[in-house]
Amino acid sequence: MRVLIAGQGAIGSVLAYRCELHGLDYRVLPRRQKQSIEFQPLDAACLRLPSAQQNPASLRGDELLLLPLKAYQVQSMLEQVSPYLSTQTLVLLHNGLGVLEKARHLAPECSFIQGITRLAAYKQQHRVTQTAQGDTHLSWVSEVNQSREQKVHAVLEELLSPVYWHQDLSEALWRKLVVNSVINPLTALHQVRNGQLSQPQYQAQIQTLIDEARALMQGLGIRGHEDLERAVAEVIEQTSDNYSSMYQDLMQQRPTEIDYINGYLCQEGQRLGIATPEHQAVLEAIHAQQAAT
Ligand code: PAF
Repeated sequence: MRVLIAGQGAIGSVLAYRCELHGLDYRVLPRRQKQSIEFQPLDAACLRLPSAQQNPASLRGDELLLLPLKAYQVQSMLEQVSPYLSTQTLVLLHNGLGVLEKARHLAPECSFIQGITRLAAYKQQHRVTQTAQGDTHLSWVSEVNQSREQKVHAVLEELLSPVYWHQDLSEALWRKLVVNSVINPLTALHQVRNGQLSQPQYQAQIQTLIDEARALMQGLGIRGHEDLERAVAEVIEQTSDNYSSMYQDLMQQRPTEIDYINGYLCQEGQRLGIATPEHQAVLEAIHAQQAAT
């Protein structure tokens, strides 16, 4: 089965490296002009990734398309390739929610897997450095036959090991959404590292954001809302030295994932008739920052 990797971002480059390592048949679908990536693995010497480029017009239909992109980039990538997609399997790995619905609309015949990965890497110019192997949690959100399922599992387990398969990932996706809805905008707005959010002056706002998100999870019947405070505090502690992705996006004048994080929560609030004023406030504050840069 041919693997396609959308983009040449940090995680996409780790996946390209792992395809090389395992001798998998793979191609890259660059978002813009193809770049030459210098890759620093966790435990080996730096190398230049020799990835070949895929022409979307010559897709066959049986490929496994990995989309390790920002939420807003997935949509534009699928808009670009959707005329050539048929029955591929697409793997979504991004912060936030709301992309799957759009992706299904753009690629109605494809099957989908949603995931959360703790694989970590960062990109500076054309150089990508892997910083953690991390585990990956995946779930099919489409029906596929057994033989396709087995082939896809074998490839993903080689590329994203350790992989944990779930019947339903909604609890984990929502818990991650809540963590991101607190850490990402607050670190970006206050211009602090993740760890600084444990200081007393941020606690009231963090609690309000969690309470609003909890009401949504309860309204939707999603489990795992009881100890959201602990989930947020753990990630703040575990990633205390990091600058969140949204902080970095704002600093580097790139678009942010706010519409798929707090924006998604506000949309769900409107749909369910549950008020989310604090999420609305941070959504507007990030939009205002983006407009000012
Ligand atoms: O988006 C991010 O930065 C990360 O998902 C997280 C967990 C907030 C850590 O920085």
